[in-house]
Amino acid sequence: MTVLVFLDSAFPDGRPADAGVPQLMINDLGVTRGDGIFESLLAVDGVPRKPDAHLDRMASSAQLLELEIPPRTAWERAIATALALHTEAETAGSTGRAAVKLVVTRGVEGAGTPTAWVQVTPASDASRQRSEGIRVLLLDRGYDSLAAARAPWLLLGAKTLSYAVNMAALRYARQNGADDAIFTSSDGKVLEGPTSTVVLARERDGVRTLLTPERKSGILAGTTQDALFRAAEAAGWELGYGPLVPEDLFAADGVWLASSIRLLVPVRSIDGRELPFSEVLNTELTKLADAAL
Ligand SMILES: Cc1ncc(COP(=O)(O)O)c(C=O)c1O
Repeated sequence: MTVLVFLDSAFPDGRPADAGVPQLMINDLGVTRGDGIFESLLAVDGVPRKPDAHLDRMASSAQLLELEIPPRTAWERAIATALALHTEAETAGSTGRAAVKLVVTRGVEGAGTPTAWVQVTPASDASRQRSEGIRVLLLDRGYDSLAAARAPWLLLGAKTLSYAVNMAALRYARQNGADDAIFTSSDGKVLEGPTSTVVLARERDGVRTLLTPERKSGILAGTTQDALFRAAEAAGWELGYGPLVPEDLFAADGVWLASSIRLLVPVRSIDGRELPFSEVLNTELTKLADAAL
């Protein structure tokens, strides 16, 4: 069951529409050029998780694309409408977990106004991946780690609708015996997953540190990683922000992929090489992430 609510200045709380019938013009630039941005966030029992972080990131993606998007209050109201409709339509046995997608395109060619909507669907169940972990391949993204600063038109670090490359990387990983991928830069730095942020934990001389690749290497600023880091810092962990190379992943006490819907998923092997995995550490970090959200 999918709930759809368009942002429409004539409808302050958003304009609900039938997700089961065509709703977009074929010359919408989101469709013809993948020209737009999106966000995916989790809602639990009708309450969105860290909506401010997602709306902040959407604003920064919009800035990178020079895209004028509806004001924050319009998003907040449309999200509330969509979640209320979704809760109303939920059937017995529902998990109460929903994926909320915010999408805004550059609009119909020549119109000059964006097309924007909120879509809510039941969240896919990732509990098995969270407890059992996943196998990952390292895949070359083909850009060096300085490309984002040198070539802003690549829109690295924006959450654009042009995710065909990310989806192709996931298909490649799955065709080659893995569940997911971690991109590396052409100069050998660890970047991010196609839909997730890389997090690793290590303990040296009694100091426990959580690390993630440096943001300036052209990766998306992960809201889940950020929430986890805030909670971990309060619990006494040190934090580090790369740069990281693949050897750091193999030398860590644990590696995770962090994202809003799937949350924290432990990585059990990279390119067929097993990684250390601790049930205790996985539970500790999962609890920290849950509490932070
Ligand atoms: C490329 C990429 N990196 C990282 C993330 C994780 O971001 P968040 O934790 O905000 O969901 C995503 C989420 O979809 C992503 O697409």
